[in-house]
Amino acid sequence: MRKVSSIEAMELAIEEGKKGWGNVAPNPLVGCSIVSSKGELLSVGYHRQFGGPHAEVVALNNVKDPESLIGAHVFVTLEPCAHQGKTGSCATALVDAKVGSVTYGVEDPNPLVAGLGLKRLQEAGILVQETTPELAKKCRDLAEMFLHGQTSKYPFVALKIASSLDGVIALKSGESRWITSERSRIRVHYLRAQFDALLVGRKTVVEDDPLLNIRHPDFGERSNRVVIIDPELKLLENIEKKRLFSSRNPKDVIFISAATKEVSDLKGCTNIAVPESQNGLDLDSAMLALRKVGIESLFVEGGAYTLGAFFRKPYLVNKLYLFVSGSILGMGNGVSWSEHFEIARLDKKIVLDNISCEGLDKDLLVTAKIQGK
Ligand SMILES: NC(=O)c1ccc[n+]([C@@H]2O[C@H](COP(=O)([O-])OP(=O)(O)OC[C@H]3O[C@@H](n4cnc5c(N)ncnc54)[C@H](OP(=O)(O)O)[C@@H]3O)[C@@H](O)[C@H]2O)c1
Repeated sequence: MRKVSSIEAMELAIEEGKKGWGNVAPNPLVGCSIVSSKGELLSVGYHRQFGGPHAEVVALNNVKDPESLIGAHVFVTLEPCAHQGKTGSCATALVDAKVGSVTYGVEDPNPLVAGLGLKRLQEAGILVQETTPELAKKCRDLAEMFLHGQTSKYPFVALKIASSLDGVIALKSGESRWITSERSRIRVHYLRAQFDALLVGRKTVVEDDPLLNIRHPDFGERSNRVVIIDPELKLLENIEKKRLFSSRNPKDVIFISAATKEVSDLKGCTNIAVPESQNGLDLDSAMLALRKVGIESLFVEGGAYTLGAFFRKPYLVNKLYLFVSGSILGMGNGVSWSEHFEIARLDKKIVLDNISCEGLDKDLLVTAKIQGK
């Protein structure tokens, strides 16, 4: 059997956790690995499906000889749960298996768990330790949507932008297909799968008539909810002719509007009325309302006006996915993703953190967090 160090074992757990992408929300992505008392890798496991067994239980069940678990080392990206939820308590399962130590990545802020899972293990005489700060950060990143949901009243918001190298997302004529490569567009479908809803501005629906569903080999074809910012519900008149309407249940088309009066015919769609603010509809109210209807994560796909509204309120934004193509389109006839917001002074600039960069054919995918989020 393969020998692994503690660092490798936690890295394996993190890689396992990623495999739950798109299938576990609103639960966290969690991975686990188990190493025998002799340092040999016994098994790995991950939380595969919302409502399904947790990573620790999957990894325990993957071990062929239960005797080998006695005194084993468990590496798990999130504190094992202490409560009986949809599945049994993971802390109890680890105690029953007689493992010797548990190394965890992040404490679970869920009040039903918070420290209780670790306490349960310690009370049973299991050695409990935190992973290294560097790996703890990776574990936090893995569970970022869930951790945000436990501590914030807003949904987890990610902005997706697909632009030329000089920041152009469409030509003034409205032409925008395609600026980035097919590989980038496949990645967008993969990213969409993890979010409860996708959001666009009214004009993107008018100009692009997008399907806004998920077409990806890992997930088949899926349609999650779509949110459209449309203050006067102008789209409602012809919504049945739009592709995003025909590819999902009408109630999963959610309008954010200023229409506070009862709308006579919503055509089965959902309308959330929010107050107006200085710069259009009040995004804070919109985000709070979306969370109340169960949208815990939101993938914002533009266009420029909509992105501007979010960049004016960067505290509402958690993450940025910027697909930059190896092409130049020029601002003379282009729409820039940053043309609808302004920064008055340099010390007010939006600072990014945790920046990573990946090549996708001729494109670059820049992923970053908004500093402080
Ligand atoms: N490359 C990319 O990543 C990408 C992605 C998406 C779209 N696009 C392109 O972008 C272009 C559309 O961009 P756009 O900037 O013209 O339009 P947009 O952002 O799609 O839609 C703007 C409209 O949405 C409503 N809206 C959005 N946020 C609002 C807020 N906070 N308050 C009030 N109303 C709000 C307003 O509707 P009313 O006009 O009714 O007031 C506004 O005019 C299209 O050509 C599309 O192809 C490119």
